[in-house]
This record gives sequence, structure tokens and C-alpha cells, in this order.
Amino acid sequence: MKTIAVLASGRGSNFSAVIDRIRDQKIPAVCVALITDNPDARAIDRAAEAGIPSVVVDYCAYPNRRAYEVDLFAAIEATGADLIVLAGYMRILGDRIVHACAGRMINIHPALLPSFSGLHAQRQALEYGVRVAGCTVHFVDTGMDSGPIILQHCVPVLDGDDEDALSERILQEEHRILPEAVRLFCEDRLTISGRRVLIKQG
Ligand code: GAR
Repeated sequence: MKTIAVLASGRGSNFSAVIDRIRDQKIPAVCVALITDNPDARAIDRAAEAGIPSVVVDYCAYPNRRAYEVDLFAAIEATGADLIVLAGYMRILGDRIVHACAGRMINIHPALLPSFSGLHAQRQALEYGVRVAGCTVHFVDTGMDSGPIILQHCVPVLDGDDEDALSERILQEEHRILPEAVRLFCEDRLTISGRRVLIKQG
């Protein structure tokens, strides 16, 4: 049974989607910790409801990113988790953490990468005028949303969409593909091969 730790900065709906699937025994894993940079993150309440310990590494309590990342790294390593899941973690991670977690850290992003990396991906998609949007789960590397892609799912962009409507449609798919990617990892079915991720059939 694999252990996972989740990093989240806010609402925590993707975190909930993952721990709900674990609770329903659809993912062979134990979630050992929620780690957040935000003491007001709603994800903390979700963790408490599920009996999962939370660790707050408050970004604003540190003089700089380097000092913050020393404690963040210690918090991640203290979990001993096999897999680190970035589920709405809204900061860029430094190279030291990314290297230490290479091949065992994944991220959900609300766009069809490599389009629209970074912040406000759904707004970027609307402003560009694409007809198809979506979400991506990928391994984390030292670039911005640039690691090998595990799963993607697309949704239509409708004429009446504003940022909220499109974000909600994408979010429903995030809640499907993030737990699915976690399951594939926990079943040892993912192999990174250069830029590609190979998925062993179950
Ligand atoms: C999600 O849409 C996630 O894809 C996005 O933040 C939201 C978090 O929602 N992440 C990023 O934009 C990372 N670049 P949640 O807290 O309800 O899971």
C-alpha cells in the first residue's frame, strides 16, 4: 500500500476528490498528510473531517522563499510519502524539492498543457479563444507545468462561458483525472520514458 501526501493552497476540492476515492477503496493508498502554505486553506477543514493530519508551513511567516522551502522540504520528507500530489498548490517549487521528489511528485493543472501554463489558465484559454479546454495531470519537473504528461481530459468552451463557468466545467474533469492518475501511480502502472509517460494496462 502506497502512502501519499497532498500539497494544497486553498479550497481543496481536488484533495477531497483524491481522499474520497481512497476512502472508497478505489485507490490502494493511505493519505498521510495534507501540507499547506496557507493557514486559511479550506483544505485543512477537509483533512480534519477525514482524520488526516495537516501541516501548515505558512509562506507569509518566512523572510524569503528559500527559508520557506527549507521547512516545506522538511515537512514533505517527514511524511515519508511515496507520492506527493500537488492539488491546487499555487507556488512554484524550488529545484531542490523537485529533484528530491523526481518521479514521485504530480500536479493537476486546469489547461491542456503545454498551452496555458502558469496562473489563471482558464482565463488564458478564454482570452485566446480556444474551442476546447481541459486539464492535465503531469509529473513535476523544474519547469513551469512542463513535466511529462500522465493524463489529460478536454471539455468544450461554450459561447456563453465566463471564467467561472469554464473553470467549473474543467474542475469536474480534474476531479476525475487526478484520482485516476494517483491510482495508476499507486498501482505501479506509470513509467516515465523521456517526455512520455507509459501506462501499463491493468
Ligand atoms: C484547480 O483548478 C487546480 O487545477 C488549480 O487550482 C485549482 C484548485 O482547486 N491549480 C493550478 O492552477 C496550479 N497551477 P481546489 O483547491 O478546489 O482543488
